[in-house]
Amino acid sequence: MEASVPGTGLLRADTGSRAAPGPLSGSVHRHRLLRAAVVLLLARLCGGASVPDIAVHFGTKTRYEDAVRPGLNLSSSPGAEGCSPVHLTAVIRHGTRFPTVKNIRRIERLSRLVQSRSPRGPGAPAWLRDIHEHWRQWYTEDMDGQLVEKGRADLRNLATRLVDSFPALLTEAGLRTGGISVKTSSKHRCVSSAEAFQDGLHRAWDRTGPGTRPGTGPGTTGTQAAGGEQGYVHEVDDVLMRSFERCRGYVEGVETNATATEEVERFKHGPELRQVRTRISERLGLDPDLLTPDLVEAAFFICSYELAIKSLYSPWCRLFTKEDAKVLEYKGDLKQFWKRSYGHSINGLSTCPLFHHIFRTLDKAGRPRRATDTPPEPASILIGHAETLLPLISLLGLYKDKTPPTAANYQSQHGRVFRSSFIVPYAANLLFVLYDCPRGPRLRLLANESPVRFPGLTQDLPLYRDVRATYRHLLDGCDFYKECEGRPSRAPNTEL
Ligand SMILES: *[C@@H]1O[C@H](CO)[C@@H](O)[C@H](O)[C@H]1NC(C)=O
Ligand SMILES: *[C@@H]1O[C@H](CO)[C@@H](O)[C@H](O)[C@H]1NC(C)=O
Repeated sequence: MEASVPGTGLLRADTGSRAAPGPLSGSVHRHRLLRAAVVLLLARLCGGASVPDIAVHFGTKTRYEDAVRPGLNLSSSPGAEGCSPVHLTAVIRHGTRFPTVKNIRRIERLSRLVQSRSPRGPGAPAWLRDIHEHWRQWYTEDMDGQLVEKGRADLRNLATRLVDSFPALLTEAGLRTGGISVKTSSKHRCVSSAEAFQDGLHRAWDRTGPGTRPGTGPGTTGTQAAGGEQGYVHEVDDVLMRSFERCRGYVEGVETNATATEEVERFKHGPELRQVRTRISERLGLDPDLLTPDLVEAAFFICSYELAIKSLYSPWCRLFTKEDAKVLEYKGDLKQFWKRSYGHSINGLSTCPLFHHIFRTLDKAGRPRRATDTPPEPASILIGHAETLLPLISLLGLYKDKTPPTAANYQSQHGRVFRSSFIVPYAANLLFVLYDCPRGPRLRLLANESPVRFPGLTQDLPLYRDVRATYRHLLDGCDFYKECEGRPSRAPNTEL
């Protein structure tokens, strides 16, 4: 796959920096060289084994595996004795994707600037020579935010792990008969993610049993079926997954209102970012006036994209120290905080339709039923964006610090819990798992496959009615029309 994409930019400097210290006998030395060559070859074959230490600071461009350590059996939980899972709602961000046009243009500008103005020749550091001699600007505008192959793998692997944890909920029959619903944002990266997720389900089922593949069967009726032989089932639903763009109060009050995100702009021109800019221009041998904050960020993004898309340790990564990366990460977090999360209450309220949809689904799944009643919908898969997950997380009150991040308090925010790198990496997910228990239904919440507590509740597996009590004000309110249009709707809480 790598060979089909130009501009691999592998670092020769990597081998140099690993040279053993001190004198060595000839045979030991040869042996080490050979071993180093084998390691490098393996690294190349596996797509580059080394990961830059700044990879945990890429914000929404962070790889899932750098932010999260998956692999738990999510189904087992302390306090779950005598309980069995009856429903899973999964809200999932699309997987790894190409840059969008805006960033591709910035990368293009940066690339031209460095190629024309940065010093070449033997005096330049190895990574800069590597950029000049081996790196080519290979991003083209038609890539615009599309899911990449690694992004398909992100979703396939997540699906497989979920089948391992919840084999009784994620069944082939469930998908075929519509008991597992798949809703997605209309953006191609999300639709592709919905397909990749189902590929992962099929792979897990093929692995565990003989099971026949669906596709031409009757199961796809009622929902919009797309895709080829696999018979993907999904329903495009922007009202749920992209409700923010239909929320006038949000669009006018935040998205297109520069004042609402002024902390980001202030930080962009503040002392911390100015220092990063000075350091980066020195390393590149450029006049600092030529290197705008946007171009500094573009260099950071190249490092993140080459790692996420191609598993490469790009020479561009050598430009940044850990401290530089933390400053740029903070700039991204400021944007997510003020534009998508706690910064303005309308950010969270713009996702009321999704909030109500999730709780209505859980209500139905937890309703008492006689043995003769039809079993509840086993799973609801909802595929969207970081812009879908962050507002929902804010409504739920997760990852909320006491002090909001601003342009002025970078130094006091090092221990903040609001870090996009951990909350919304590629393929980020929120899992709501409803259990049938002796004293009634209980609800478990997992964020990126780690248990998370609902605010104010002390148990990992609280009674569902206690969770409902926590969100009573939103369950009774959170009226999309009222919040977004400033007037009440005729029927409260209706899904649009
Ligand atoms: C995970 O736990 C559930 C419930 O205890 C069990 O049914 C399932 O087989 C387990 N999965 C794996 C891979 O161990
Ligand atoms: C823009 O944002 C500021 C700060 O949040 C707010 O005071 C102002 O009312 C907003 N403007 C509009 C048109 O909503």
